[in-house]
Amino acid sequence: MSWGLENRLSRIIRPEDNRTVMLAVDHGYFLGPTSGLECMSESIVPLAPYADTLMLTRGMLRAEIPSTVNTPIVLRVSGANSVLDDDLSNETIITDIDEVIRLNAAGMALSIFVGSPHQHQTIANLAKLIDLGERYGIPVIAVTAVGKDMVRDARYLALATRIAAEMGAHIVKTYYVEDDFERITGTCPVPVVMAGGKKLPERDALEMTYSAISRGAAGVDMGRNIFQSDSPLGMIKAVNAVVHGGASVDEAYTVYMDEKPKGRKKSAARGKKKIAADDSRKI
Ligand code: 5RP
Repeated sequence: MSWGLENRLSRIIRPEDNRTVMLAVDHGYFLGPTSGLECMSESIVPLAPYADTLMLTRGMLRAEIPSTVNTPIVLRVSGANSVLDDDLSNETIITDIDEVIRLNAAGMALSIFVGSPHQHQTIANLAKLIDLGERYGIPVIAVTAVGKDMVRDARYLALATRIAAEMGAHIVKTYYVEDDFERITGTCPVPVVMAGGKKLPERDALEMTYSAISRGAAGVDMGRNIFQSDSPLGMIKAVNAVVHGGASVDEAYTVYMDEKPKGRKKSAARGKKKIAADDSRKI
């Protein structure tokens, strides 16, 4: 591995504990304006100091993230499809390697869709990107995207994760499964990071993080369970406490609760004012 590649990798996975908290905010690349990511300069920039990396597209990086932000960037470089297509696997490489270098990215992320109609194309995209990454010293994170008809179990995810590692991916991002997660982490020779998946109650998301770490994951590449939380700052601090701080679920949940804005009770006067305002709109 070249010095440059090792150096960039060490900016993604902290060398002191071999763990990482990656904040995934690339959802718009096929979903459009995802809830919580409508204005990333407001919702995501304040979280950046608590993330080991930000994973996003070049468009959002340039438009929403000031160039003075020091958090290493992992660029999402696969796409060219949308949620309106039934087959999301029809992806290509959407960002030139020159642009990745110009943007000073620490890594590149690309999805593979094993078992989907375009599996060959996406795995070939990965192999090509890894050749480019090796040439210029930029690590590649393979994302095991799950096609609509795929069963998300350890057998399938171990297959997809191992194929990504066989192609030469430096990190593989996959989903957590309760049943036999060790089969995924135990058969993948490179670090596995856990995607958060759909929004869960905060305590459940912390339980999942704790279990994934205990069962061999090197960290998380988590999105919605952080930025769609009622306290994104509390959640990213709590996830950090588990991943880097060795916190238990109870301890991490306390970190989240301590940061969560305390609710205010509506006063009777505020209630009355609202009724008056609503009435006035009827006139
Ligand atoms: C989609 C991705 C997303 O970055 C990732 O899945 C989002 O993270 P989360 O599931 O935690 O919201 O790679 O393929």
